[in-house]
Amino acid sequence: MRFPTTRLRRLRQSDALRRLVRETRLSPEQMVAPLFVCEGEGVRREIAAMPGCSRMSVDVLVDECRELAALGVPAVMLFGIPAAKDPDGAAAADPGGPVARALTALRREVSALSLWADVCLCEYTDHGHCGPLTPTPHGVLDVDNDRALPRLVDAACAYARAGADVVALSDMMDGRIGAIRTGLNVEGRTDVVIVSYAAKYASAFYGPFREAAGSAPAFGDRRTYQMDPANGREALREVAADLDEGADVVMVKPALAYLDVVWRVKERFDVPVATYNVSGEYAMVRAARRLGWIDETRAAMESLLCIRRAGADIILTYFAKEAARLLA
Ligand code: PBG
Repeated sequence: MRFPTTRLRRLRQSDALRRLVRETRLSPEQMVAPLFVCEGEGVRREIAAMPGCSRMSVDVLVDECRELAALGVPAVMLFGIPAAKDPDGAAAADPGGPVARALTALRREVSALSLWADVCLCEYTDHGHCGPLTPTPHGVLDVDNDRALPRLVDAACAYARAGADVVALSDMMDGRIGAIRTGLNVEGRTDVVIVSYAAKYASAFYGPFREAAGSAPAFGDRRTYQMDPANGREALREVAADLDEGADVVMVKPALAYLDVVWRVKERFDVPVATYNVSGEYAMVRAARRLGWIDETRAAMESLLCIRRAGADIILTYFAKEAARLLA
């Protein structure tokens, strides 16, 4: 009788052994919780396509953040739902807007958290695009890259003043990292961390988020500024450009269908890599659970672990609170 020489099953015999040889670990410390902040008081309005996630007024948000901090989650990322929108997205930089007010309250009340402010105009424009529009030479409307830049700088500086220690730039305009780094420097804010959504794809997986933020484009799509899902090498050019312009952390978004991109970015660059496990990825797991088709907890934890295995240092995820509870 010949025995197989290699016994890979030997190290899988017990939970104890499996734990000892595990290559990848998941911890609440690697997670950032994205949160939606709206006007009002005592407001917690659940988002239909994202069960478990709500738009919250500042007071409710502060309590939520206290819980997250107590569970060991180090950071939250804020998205604003403004009362009014206009063609240029001016409200993004409003110091009295929901994000700025939330940052000020959180800086005072939950000082241990790192406070990330998402910087983009699509929640603030009445047409839902990520910058002001202009007719192209071919007679169609498109986002005016260079007119978006000063708006984005104003927003980033407003959030830094309000209390953000991190600004996360999700608009995908060319040159935005350099413009914002310069704008922050001019204000003497060399301390502010810039996270670039460097490889952000034009993805169908953002659907539920756009319902939550009321930011679906009124016409067309975002393919003239967000990346083509077909492209992997181009992501490396995006990351290189953003690092060159002064980004501290780079992000790949979405996560699960783009883990090859995460891996490539991690292999090539020695900076922290973040990945965004986006609203559609979250909604799919929740929906399948509702239908009784999947073990939601295991599916969510497996997804997060595999995002780490692919090379992500930081995961933005709507599962942050539940995952942190499970890992406690
Ligand atoms: C803003 C922004 C979007 C997301 C994060 N920042 C939406 C978009 O680009 O349309 C998506 C997040 C998610 O789906 O969870 N530009």
